[in-house]
Amino acid sequence: MTARRAARARGISMEPEHEPLISPREALRELSKRLREGWGLEYVKRSAPHAPSTASASASSAPRRSEPAVAPRAPAPLPPAPDAPLPEREKALQGIAREIQSCRACRLCEKRKQAVPGEGPADARVAFVGEGPGYDEDRSGRPFVGAAGQLLTAIIERGMGLERSSVWIGNTVKCRPPGNRNPEPDEIQACEPFLRRQLDIVRPAVIVTLGRFATQLLTGRSEGILGLRGKVYQVPASWEVAGTPVVPTVHPSFLLRSPEYKPQCWEDIKLAMKTIGLESRRDGPPRGEGSPT
Ligand code: URA
Repeated sequence: MTARRAARARGISMEPEHEPLISPREALRELSKRLREGWGLEYVKRSAPHAPSTASASASSAPRRSEPAVAPRAPAPLPPAPDAPLPEREKALQGIAREIQSCRACRLCEKRKQAVPGEGPADARVAFVGEGPGYDEDRSGRPFVGAAGQLLTAIIERGMGLERSSVWIGNTVKCRPPGNRNPEPDEIQACEPFLRRQLDIVRPAVIVTLGRFATQLLTGRSEGILGLRGKVYQVPASWEVAGTPVVPTVHPSFLLRSPEYKPQCWEDIKLAMKTIGLESRRDGPPRGEGSPT
């Protein structure tokens, strides 16, 4: 008789009592998620390596791929009050931009030419949040200036009838992932405080998330973008701008590759406009240069 059968005959279960163990990294991610969603707390790993800040720091102290990229940060300055004068809010956004430009909280700082903090007025009613800078953005320091950016500009200006300069545009991660790879969860986590603080200053009436990463971050959901788009969500309770309507849509880069999704994108844009009482000026999506028609 095998040990298992003998044990069963004596009424002893040899089945494991607990769920299979998960890796420390998964456990850390789950813990961070529960702290954030359940308690509104940010997990900060105290023993995470400091990025080298002096020429004498050795290369081995740089964040490595196997380690969480969350490095301790100096406490953020208090944000201006929501009703603070506009110049004060603009100044606070500029301060965050300077922090982003010198940030070394994750490995993405190592290969960037420059960080891309985001741009737009501190009192914009509409905010767009993308994934992360690409080649052109890394070189220019501005969000959405490449091919996908031209399409986004066409959506804003010819589709929505707004000036691009009247909306706020930012990203989930502020530094270009090498080769335009997807951002890693720990990179998104390291960058999240910047987006939180930026949105807390702008306090947009609606946030349009472009693609999966921004959408998952700003809705707290885990489905893919095609499953999430088409509806209005709310920023999760743990964020400073909790409850702000979020309208997810496909990323403009995806739209460039798959223009057959243009009608869905246009539906989402109209939904975002309706959410804040803006009239859409057109019956259809923008056509012509920069559009995927
Ligand atoms: N794609 C993004 O997600 N963001 C940019 O800024 C540019 C391209």
